[in-house]
Amino acid sequence: MPADPIAPPPRLLMGPGPITADPRVLRAMSGPLVGQFDPAMTAYMDDVMTLYRQVFATTNEQTMLVDGTSRAGIEAALVSLLEPGDRVLVPIFGRFGHLLAEIAERCAADVHTVEVPWGTVFEPEVVEAAVRDVQPKVVAVVHGDTSTTMCQPLADIAEICRRNDAILYCDVTASLGGNEFLCDAWGVDVATAGLQKCLGGPSGSAPITISERAVEVINGRKHIEAGIRSEGDSAHGTRIASNYFDLAMIMDYWGKQRLNHHTEATSMLYGAHECARLLVQEGLPEAVERHRLHGEAMLAGVRGLGLHVYGDLRHKLNNVVAVLIPDGLDGDVVREALLDDFGIEIGTSFGPLHGKVWRIGTMGYNARKDAVLTTLAALEQVLRAEGAAVTAGGGVGAARERYAA
Ligand SMILES: Cc1ncc(COP(=O)(O)O)c(C=O)c1O
Repeated sequence: MPADPIAPPPRLLMGPGPITADPRVLRAMSGPLVGQFDPAMTAYMDDVMTLYRQVFATTNEQTMLVDGTSRAGIEAALVSLLEPGDRVLVPIFGRFGHLLAEIAERCAADVHTVEVPWGTVFEPEVVEAAVRDVQPKVVAVVHGDTSTTMCQPLADIAEICRRNDAILYCDVTASLGGNEFLCDAWGVDVATAGLQKCLGGPSGSAPITISERAVEVINGRKHIEAGIRSEGDSAHGTRIASNYFDLAMIMDYWGKQRLNHHTEATSMLYGAHECARLLVQEGLPEAVERHRLHGEAMLAGVRGLGLHVYGDLRHKLNNVVAVLIPDGLDGDVVREALLDDFGIEIGTSFGPLHGKVWRIGTMGYNARKDAVLTTLAALEQVLRAEGAAVTAGGGVGAARERYAA
């Protein structure tokens, strides 16, 4: 008996990502395949590089995609930068900082961490003191950590890295497109992202940008594979510990020499291309403003219902809010009712916040007024049915007031 065809239920994905993909992105992904060295394909690859330079606000030549989810981009960056024994400093303010430290440990780096409580971000002096103490080759930090909804200011940290001759790697998966990120103006060396948050696509492709000085470090470890190596290609430095995530080889594949590496994930590239094209067409500052507006409307709405929010709001990501689950309520029951009765998904949370907050996203294709108002209206009904004291009409009303302002 063959399985039934895939027929997903209609959903409004209002969690911390993945979010409902923009139908234009899905349409682009259904385009017919071409060969990986077809001139049409190589032209799309060049377009992707140009488009993502605009999305990252950089002139970095080495701006491309790593195939895989956002985590693939993180692994590629760290395994290509870090040699066994290299010192790396990871400032941790949420779950994804722990992930950076864990991946750096797997690279056999000498990993040092500093932490601040969840719901807060680092003051630059704390990072500066740690950088002076550790003298790291690389500082690896998350920009927006969806686990806590906090967005770490990066300009000062980048400056500290420059002054102390450290390479700065940033995970901008959750922030890019919905919060200001200025790669060159701030002086970030390597940044990696994903499509499934503010870029409005599905997960499965990790845009990356790499500065000249990071390219030098990575190419200082270049070992071209046997079988495609030309006579005279010499190997340099310590070989990168992963073949798939070897950015020296991935850069050669995306570069003029088109030296074969993996088979580029064509349909994902079509999707990534459309995500960036739509953002550039809208304008990056305009997209950030859109996320700010709908994020503020959602924040006003949940407060209008009488709920409280988590974390230092001065540093909240535009695109996600953590809402404290009222005492006596089972957060998972509320999430299930939203999904079953309204087709709306909101997020649970991890680690110390598990069972304490819901995470509600307003990002990418769902950074829209109707998505915000529908979610608030449904949330009110579900909370009321569960016996929570909520202000009647308070959520939608407060959000509409924010829009009217
Ligand atoms: C900040 C951050 N980094 C990394 C990831 C991991 O992304 P992926 O699941 O696409 O590998 C996420 C996913 O939520 C994230 O929010």
